[in-house]
Amino acid sequence: MNLILLGPPGAGKGTQARLIEETHGLVQLSTGDMLRSLVASGSPLGQQAKEIMGAGRLMPDELMVTMIAERIVEPDCANGFILDGFPRTVAQAEALDRMLADKGLKLDCVIEMACDDEALVERITGRFACAKCGAGYHDRFKQTKVAGVCDVCGSLEFVRRADDTAETVRTRLQQYHQMTAPILPYYAERGMLKKVDGMASIDEVTSQIDARLAAAKGA
Ligand code: AP5
Repeated sequence: MNLILLGPPGAGKGTQARLIEETHGLVQLSTGDMLRSLVASGSPLGQQAKEIMGAGRLMPDELMVTMIAERIVEPDCANGFILDGFPRTVAQAEALDRMLADKGLKLDCVIEMACDDEALVERITGRFACAKCGAGYHDRFKQTKVAGVCDVCGSLEFVRRADDTAETVRTRLQQYHQMTAPILPYYAERGMLKKVDGMASIDEVTSQIDARLAAAKGA
């Protein structure tokens, strides 16, 4: 099964993608994570990505399409993948259709995680992750069980993303409404769009996604 998680910054795409990976045996393909690795590499392209992401703007379509086209043919994607953060423009959605058709693959489901902008600012500015294993947490909504200790690997070090400031989040939300939201009718017209309530609790969102995936499998 191949699916897209679509939603504004902070909607919970990464949180849910990691859960779906575990329960459905699919691979999470996060373009944000790929770009953060590129930034960490220190290459000239990474430097360019750092500036664009730091400003909350979108990276060029062509680069993102190439990144995904190269990634989905890797062996670990053979059982299916979850696109998290891609496509983000109608041009990317069209390119995805073409690349899947070329490779004899198809999309099974596009899940929209609908949220209110104001709640997203709180979600994003409260987000942190384990510096060692990457497990994600939130100051209010998903705290570590023991304060200051990662539940997964026991590390005592945590990081916050450079683009998780209130100011950058507002630009990212603006970019989402301008550039990404037009993808929703694109998939709705193709009968692929399924909506979940991204404002519900993490567990409730997971249940709603599971129900949509079960329906898509049965279809
Ligand atoms: P990317 O890394 O994709 O960021 P994003 O889309 O802004 O999404 P986030 O990762 O911020 O949020 P999320 O929906 O994954 O939420 P999360 O699960 O962490 O992209 C970063 C940048 O890279 C972009 O701005 C752009 O510059 C560039 N880029 C990436 N892809 C691109 C592309 N295709 N084209 C062009 N440019 C591209 O949850 C957030 C917090 O809320 C967490 O702390 C979590 O614990 C908590 N939480 C989650 N769900 C709930 C819930 N239901 N209730 C309460 N709290 C919750």
